[in-house]
Amino acid sequence: MGETEIAWRKELEAIVHRIDRLMPIYGTEFPHLAWNGRYSEQLTVEGSWTGSFWTGMVYLAARITGERKYIDYLLDYLPVYDKRLNEGWLDHDTGFLFQLYAVPLYRSTGDKRARDQVVRAADELLKRFNPRGGFIRAWGRLDDPERAGKMIIDCLLNLPLLHSATALTLNPAYAAAAERHVRNAARYQIRADGSTHHTFDFEPDKGEPIGGFNEGGYDDESCWSRGQAWGIYGFVLAYAQTGDRLYMEAARRLADYWLDELPEDGIPSWDFRLPTGSASLRDSSAAAIAACGMFELHAALRESGNGGDRYRACAIRMLEALRLGYSTARGDESEAMLNGVFGRVSGVEYELNAIWGDYFYMEALLLACGERPNMWTSTNGGF
Ligand code: GLY
Repeated sequence: MGETEIAWRKELEAIVHRIDRLMPIYGTEFPHLAWNGRYSEQLTVEGSWTGSFWTGMVYLAARITGERKYIDYLLDYLPVYDKRLNEGWLDHDTGFLFQLYAVPLYRSTGDKRARDQVVRAADELLKRFNPRGGFIRAWGRLDDPERAGKMIIDCLLNLPLLHSATALTLNPAYAAAAERHVRNAARYQIRADGSTHHTFDFEPDKGEPIGGFNEGGYDDESCWSRGQAWGIYGFVLAYAQTGDRLYMEAARRLADYWLDELPEDGIPSWDFRLPTGSASLRDSSAAAIAACGMFELHAALRESGNGGDRYRACAIRMLEALRLGYSTARGDESEAMLNGVFGRVSGVEYELNAIWGDYFYMEALLLACGERPNMWTSTNGGF
């Protein structure tokens, strides 16, 4: 084991140690955002759109240590997730919420309650599929016409839940919807230079394409770095789920744009096309998500004999930049693992701690060490 891998494994040990400390503090609530590293000052009861990044980290701790206590802790969340399904708000991020929680829980325990949650959550997600346009509607209640025709690039990470439901039930409808969505994402959300539109609008009744927009990034012509990262990882996952090389190529185009635009220090600005002279806040979470995507892109390209070493090299460069410059995993000061996640709260932009940044940092460390936790796939992990 080389020195860098020893450092990554030490970092994972520190993260697991931190998780041990936080589990009793969080109980069955969820960390979300923090300005000072202290998520516990504003836990959410139902998990916002981010709840399962925490439970996903607990599952990764179970995988790393082999200890049962993490799984027992996750089982305590079952009624909380049930309540969310029965009464809480659900949107396109239903995929995030249940893929990282109920899928690995079912895989590791065979508990039928977790299996039911996967299928019920996928049913909810499927209700958001617009068959005329071929996309999963982002945001908003289904009876609200505003934004009825909008797809967003983040949603690519919600599609794995649909594939999981097909793997469990053998009903092809879930995976078919996911495939139409990702096909349209590849067709409409990628610009000629490999940058991406964050959002894309369709005329909701006829399903005709309208055009690309941006809500996460600076403006409609810009390229939100976290959106680009969702795209890299999302297209790689679509390739893993479908075997269609179109998605591997899509991921490669996005990754090439990323490589060209990434600053020397390895952490992107929150948008790749900010006007000259504007304040350039970084987004460490975008680097963590993109690192996961590039590790998997490298693995996919290598398996198909297509090289891809530059993507692994870039993933390692970003991971090291995170470990050396943004990690707060060592020491007992913070509850977060990463500083410097870009967030916009009530229209004001900040660098903060966010649980999704912590999750993807942990996943990227595992991937760097050669582990394949298969958190986003059903087929590779098996049921
Ligand atoms: N999916 C929401 C975000 O990345 O901020």
